[in-house]
Amino acid sequence: MQRAQLTSRALLAIAILYACLSPAVCVYEAKILSFLEEFRMRMCHPIPNLGLPALDPLQFGPVATELNNKYLVDFTGSIDNFQLHGLSDFDVPELSLTPVPRLKNTINVTLPLTHFESLYTAKGSLAYILNLAGDGNAETSIKNFSILISFRLRSVSPLAIYSLEIELGLGELWINFDNLVEEERINDFFHALVNELGVELLGDVWDYEQGTVVSKAQAAVNKFLGQFTLSEIIQIITGGGSEGESAPIFEGVEPDCKLEASPTN
Ligand SMILES: *[C@@H]1O[C@H](CO)[C@@H](O)[C@H](O)[C@H]1NC(C)=O
Ligand SMILES: *[C@@H]1O[C@H](CO)[C@@H](O)[C@H](O)[C@H]1NC(C)=O
Repeated sequence: MQRAQLTSRALLAIAILYACLSPAVCVYEAKILSFLEEFRMRMCHPIPNLGLPALDPLQFGPVATELNNKYLVDFTGSIDNFQLHGLSDFDVPELSLTPVPRLKNTINVTLPLTHFESLYTAKGSLAYILNLAGDGNAETSIKNFSILISFRLRSVSPLAIYSLEIELGLGELWINFDNLVEEERINDFFHALVNELGVELLGDVWDYEQGTVVSKAQAAVNKFLGQFTLSEIIQIITGGGSEGESAPIFEGVEPDCKLEASPTN
């Protein structure tokens, strides 16, 4: 899937949260939590009105990529039969939203267990030192991934957020990429390293990159929100706009994704 598409979907999801900031439409947290519950029950289906594909499992492929820099990185990679499980098991242990400008809004979303598996290839070399020979299954499982987002709402129009902060938490990370590195001992070492240190490594990468990601995210959210007033966003979400009939968000999508206890063989 295109990154731009994912971004616009994420923005739409944020817009939905914002729609609930109008006292007339929502009772803030309770309304959002019940919306999320409705959403969870439908995450195994595409949701056309949100432009979303099925999210649990999230599947895609084949996708191919190529990086060809003569001197340092020479890389071709592909992914097929990618399947990510567990997104619909999210918890929201913390949610405090307020339409009052300048007060802090906080959301913590936790995924107890996510797991992906895929067929993959990764061939090439890094600086002629490390030869990638990846070909086979790629699997990763992540326990207790959590994201804590906080922000404040600006008091004057256009609609905007500021002081965005994003913290990540990770309980456990495990990876297995068949034959990733050509040299077997290095391959074993790499896997042992990530599986031993993954949580700390990811934490370090995040600490290092956080400033950039957060300022870009805030700019993107504000660029999107700036086009609308709060009431326009509510209309988009509820479908009650000027273009005739309203279409509820989940129209036509059965809430049957969490009924797996059904007694079939
Ligand atoms: C989110 O909440 C969970 C459960 O309370 C907590 O364990 C986790 O550390 C929180 N995440 C962040 C990034 O603070
Ligand atoms: C994940 O979180 C649960 C509940 O907070 C806790 O009991 C469990 O030990 C955690 N697991 C890992 C691997 O962090």
